[in-house]
Amino acid sequence: MALNIIVGTQWGDEGKGRVVDLLAAEADYVARYNGGDNAGHTVTVGDQTFKLHLIPSGVIHPHTIGIIGNGLVVNPKVLLEEIEITRASGVEITPERLRISHAAHVITPAYLALDKAREQSRGDEKIGTTLRGIGPAYNHKAARSGLRMETMLSLEDFAEAVAAQIEGVNEVLINLYETEPLDTLEIAKEYVGYAQELAPYIENVSSLLTEALRSGENVLAEGAQGTLLDIDHGTYPYVTSSNPTAAGALVGLGLGVGHVGRVIGVTKAFQTRVGEGPFPTEVFGETAQQLRGTGDKPWDEFGTTTGRPRRVGWLDAVLLRYAVQINGITELTITKLDVLSGLDTLYICTGYQADGETHHDLPLGPTDLDYEPEYEELPGWEADEADIMGTRKWGGLPQAAQAYIQRIEELAGTPIRLISVGPEREQVIEIE
Ligand code: GDP
Ligand code: IMO
Ligand code: MG
Repeated sequence: MALNIIVGTQWGDEGKGRVVDLLAAEADYVARYNGGDNAGHTVTVGDQTFKLHLIPSGVIHPHTIGIIGNGLVVNPKVLLEEIEITRASGVEITPERLRISHAAHVITPAYLALDKAREQSRGDEKIGTTLRGIGPAYNHKAARSGLRMETMLSLEDFAEAVAAQIEGVNEVLINLYETEPLDTLEIAKEYVGYAQELAPYIENVSSLLTEALRSGENVLAEGAQGTLLDIDHGTYPYVTSSNPTAAGALVGLGLGVGHVGRVIGVTKAFQTRVGEGPFPTEVFGETAQQLRGTGDKPWDEFGTTTGRPRRVGWLDAVLLRYAVQINGITELTITKLDVLSGLDTLYICTGYQADGETHHDLPLGPTDLDYEPEYEELPGWEADEADIMGTRKWGGLPQAAQAYIQRIEELAGTPIRLISVGPEREQVIEIE
């Protein structure tokens, strides 16, 4: 009877969607609390694969109610398309089953245009954003010039607000970035159509969820992105513009601190990153190829949202400890252990070397992350991927895989409760 929070401990794509789907079996509400359609959460159930960007991953379970919290920035076009696709896959998405916070912000084409123009103007210093308008949307939110979902409840006001925003941004597009302006009237008309469709979904979700928690129901909060992409606590400026960390769940859903139960950190058995920014344990060449895959398998490391190849590297225990600290993680789930099968030696980063000293804490400032990682070597296992994917019991894992997990647990200082060995619901090992 509590709020349990699922948070990524790395740079996103840890397998949060897969873990949310697993734990949603015991939840009444599944609630996204940050980000927008920059997220891509994959859920595999039998022969069906769902790629969700805005709809919470737990809605595949028919008993749950999905929530889009005030912490999100929502592209209504993307959301409506996603509702259609999800429905076509046999999942019932109705205004009864999906509630959207009145205080979530609305993404318009103005933000998409700004995202693109800003990235282009950054040149070599680009962030490598998903170009979904996320940064500009949070920018306008903080500047108090954003558009909130609640405005959709009055179509006339909404049309005016959309038009005013597009006109304002057009000034910037023309004068600062020297790009084509957007068609104000066309967009205002299009957005009125979205408002008509989405109005029945809009609610004060803070009140809804608080009531549910008080009456003993379970809420599962689903983070997007990951700790190291957090605007405050990540590898700034190579971050997203929201708070994926656990505290973001409280602000992003409008819930009091006292409700929090478990804080479940999702950690990939190695490390990946999409976009620019520091990555101390990054590997290249043949090892990278082995970790990334070639794109043949659905879980190979290519972005769910953008299709970009993900950068890959060894697990970084310094950053993992930091994630445990920042989020107050109470337990970890390790995903993709199967992918490490067949590697002779595994490496875990336990510190960074600089000026003849070893550092065990997150260095201050992005340039310091260029420190040389200090590695601990552990033996790999010979069993092939299929064997690991077929294992359901701790004792069934090769000794070397058990040792690898135990070492991560020691270094993180937090119990590992679940090990995911495949994308499917049942491909999981529970640790008593
Ligand atoms: P998210 O953004 O954190 O939800 O993660 P993504 O969905 O972007 O990327 C994770 C990918 O790995 C998806 O294709 C999942 O289906 C897949 N996946 C999750 N857990 C496992 C696992 O334990 N083993 C394998 N092989 N694939 C997994
Ligand atoms: P999920 O929820 C991985 C990255 C982008 C870029 C940076 C800023 O699937 O884990 P943005 O478009 O947010 O302004 O881009 O953040 N990024 C993600 N990387 N997984 C994600 O989401 C991401 N969402 C944003 O690649 O480096
Ligand atoms: Mg993803």
